[in-house]
Amino acid sequence: MPNTLLLGQTLSFDDKPFAVPPEAAARHESKGAVLLRDGKIAAVDTADRLRTAHPSAVIKDYGDGLIIAGFVDAHVHYPQTGIIASWGKRLIDWLNTYTFPEEMRFGDAAYASEIAETYLDLTARHGVTTMASYCTIHPESVDAFFTAAQSRGQRVIAGKTCMDRNAPDGLRDTPQSAYDDSKALLEKWHGVARLSYAITPRFSPTSTPEQLDALGQLWAEHPDCLMQTHLSEQTDEIAWVRDLFPDARDYLDTYERFGLLGEKGLFGHAIHLEPRERARLREVGAGLIHCPTSNKFIGSGLFDMGGLMAEGQRVGLASDTGGGSSFSILRTMAATYEVAQLRHNPLHAAQLIWLATAGSARALHMEDRIGNLAPGMEADLVVLDLASTPDIAQRSKRANSLWQALFPTIMMGDDRAITATWINGQLSSSFC
Ligand code: GUN
Ligand code: ZN
Repeated sequence: MPNTLLLGQTLSFDDKPFAVPPEAAARHESKGAVLLRDGKIAAVDTADRLRTAHPSAVIKDYGDGLIIAGFVDAHVHYPQTGIIASWGKRLIDWLNTYTFPEEMRFGDAAYASEIAETYLDLTARHGVTTMASYCTIHPESVDAFFTAAQSRGQRVIAGKTCMDRNAPDGLRDTPQSAYDDSKALLEKWHGVARLSYAITPRFSPTSTPEQLDALGQLWAEHPDCLMQTHLSEQTDEIAWVRDLFPDARDYLDTYERFGLLGEKGLFGHAIHLEPRERARLREVGAGLIHCPTSNKFIGSGLFDMGGLMAEGQRVGLASDTGGGSSFSILRTMAATYEVAQLRHNPLHAAQLIWLATAGSARALHMEDRIGNLAPGMEADLVVLDLASTPDIAQRSKRANSLWQALFPTIMMGDDRAITATWINGQLSSSFC
């Protein structure tokens, strides 16, 4: 395979824009280039230098397009693709009315495969190159997702959602079958190509203590796997957890007591946290996944980005498809900004882009492979058009810095702003 040289503006990060002044963390090249070789980023430099050094590379010139790392969506439910933007419910009602009936259909391997392909097509158009997805209780739903991702050379994380109570007939497993099925799927897929398995108890209201215990044992046997679940999304959910687990110190304790708290744990939402929960999450270095469009759409609450970043929590960003109201990570970043504004914490564009790329990759413990433009990283990239609509163009043309030019696209952009998505060194078929 010949080398490929992408030309455009480039933006990468040398540091964490929450640890140093945001603009100092970033590296911007207005006439930059990224050299791709064998699915990896071989070099990031000026266009002049890389063109001279690699005269036989196949050139793709994106002009003023901004080349950044592909977006990393740290919490999605691909089976909810078909019910995204369903009206009017709060969490538990929303699950029972829209989500569970749809998830019931994923025992049908053909249907699971159709939705997995649709989901990956749609998200590639939004520049998402990696996601951590819940599947359904059906092993077929996991096979369908990993098969679709593998054929695209995509790095994804997924797991069988486990539920053995408070879910309808046909959508419950048992402690033993959840353990056995998860283990078999983990052994089948984890580490194959770019696929990783995540042990996935949906949330403590839908798992008995016996099931949580069984999944805690499975995680102890496979500590290199991620574990994903939900935590403290809505106040009525928290009250329900208190009723279901009267001995637990708090919501987090319903996981902790069964071995389901650790550095490789991913806790979706994490909005209404008690001081003890924050301290324990920080102590173990678990990932807190912010799902702002979902939190607004389902009416869950305001994630404390400023406070959590200041105390050094590991935070990732996510669409939470289909509780979230968009597949777009640009829309997710806009919602992140707006939610933080309501907490009087204006986030810088560099912080938003970092959260959607390197930050999410770090939450997934994959920051050494994805989430940044740097030699040796996997070649997952997105090219942004910073003047994709008349609304945005009339604003960005007044900009006198990269950040001023980029922020209107973060706030107003959608899939029209995604010029191209490259996955594993190849242009995604959504752009061919
Ligand atoms: N809590 C448990 N399951 C779900 C889900 O599917 N979506 C959201 N937003 N919250 C959940
Ligand atoms: Zn979720």
